[in-house]
Amino acid sequence: MNRTVDYEKLSLVNKPFEDEFKKAFSRFLEKGWYVLGTEVSDFEKEFAKYLNREDGYCIGVASGLDALIISLECLNLPKGSDVLVPSNTYIASILAIIKAGLNPILVEPELSTYNISPSELKNKITPNTKAVLVVHLYGKACNMQEICTFCKENNLKLVEDCAQSHGAKFKGQTTGTFGDAGAFSFYPTKNLGALGDAGLIWTSNKEIADKARAIRNYGSHEKYHNKYLGMNSRLDELQASFLRIKLRHMEEITQKKRKLASLYLQGLDKTKFILPVVNPDYFDVYHLFTVRTKKRDELKKYLLDNGIKTDIHYPLAPNKQEAMKGILDIQNPTPIAEEIHNTILSLPCSFGSSEDDVKYIIEVMNRF
Ligand SMILES: Cc1ncc(COP(=O)(O)O)c(C=O)c1O
Repeated sequence: MNRTVDYEKLSLVNKPFEDEFKKAFSRFLEKGWYVLGTEVSDFEKEFAKYLNREDGYCIGVASGLDALIISLECLNLPKGSDVLVPSNTYIASILAIIKAGLNPILVEPELSTYNISPSELKNKITPNTKAVLVVHLYGKACNMQEICTFCKENNLKLVEDCAQSHGAKFKGQTTGTFGDAGAFSFYPTKNLGALGDAGLIWTSNKEIADKARAIRNYGSHEKYHNKYLGMNSRLDELQASFLRIKLRHMEEITQKKRKLASLYLQGLDKTKFILPVVNPDYFDVYHLFTVRTKKRDELKKYLLDNGIKTDIHYPLAPNKQEAMKGILDIQNPTPIAEEIHNTILSLPCSFGSSEDDVKYIIEVMNRF
């Protein structure tokens, strides 16, 4: 073995920002204001600008999961309403629907994009369907033209799970701004990652924004007056100050990931690996760079033997998870999701990865 390549090393990702983080931490200590202060409100304004939608509202919350739960709660849907969600998503999207008192209905993705299939949506709608939760998986936008039309025609609410799609666009429009609400995670590994947990909701609807702002803070608009059954899901000042710093470098972070992805796309042997599709209507941000092969487990081991660490997103479909027994319809087969879960592999594509790492990985992979 002549080289070791980490899948992702967060200390390397954050190294370029350390001096700025230290200054922000000193300011934070001096100020002595720890939760929901000006760092949060400034970050909310700056993130709306980043989304190119300053006409809307951003509400910082404690995590991506909470951003999804609160977004869904703010839609005021009847309890037990069906929400269509992709069958191959990360468990958080489905947990959020359940925690909001709604009923997840799995919809198969397209095998080409790994995103929810607009034609499958049409097959799953019933009179109890009230909303769609799309997930822009791995950093690629869903087909928002078809999905928005479908929601409009069927009078369905639309929430976007943007945990993996910061800055990803469909036909020039940023993900998170198409539907009733966009839910973002700033978990440390995300393209815009905090140094702990954090999340945010974007909406253009003032009623949703007001309710979300209250729900994150015990359901209260006014101190000690509680209008809703809220929760404690406040974004803290320190994470907001770190996020503000990294947000100023988002262009650089995105370009680096796109550059690494372009090296893979050009260099990997397409007869051996199924690569992500590229389409000019989609601006992909490569939260993850994935390949597929029937020999996935063999490939993973071979790469590890050559010092290259990889990951699988995700090894088990949501309807195969123990926690979902009796909740998700396990009788209903999801063969496309299964195929993806059984064949997908995520390669190193971190802001902390180097072009040399990627060239080495390509060389090793093409010898597989
Ligand atoms: C698609 C998706 N949705 C939601 C979440 C939840 O975000 P968080 O971990 O910040 O709660 C994640 C994060 O891992 C995710 O990948």
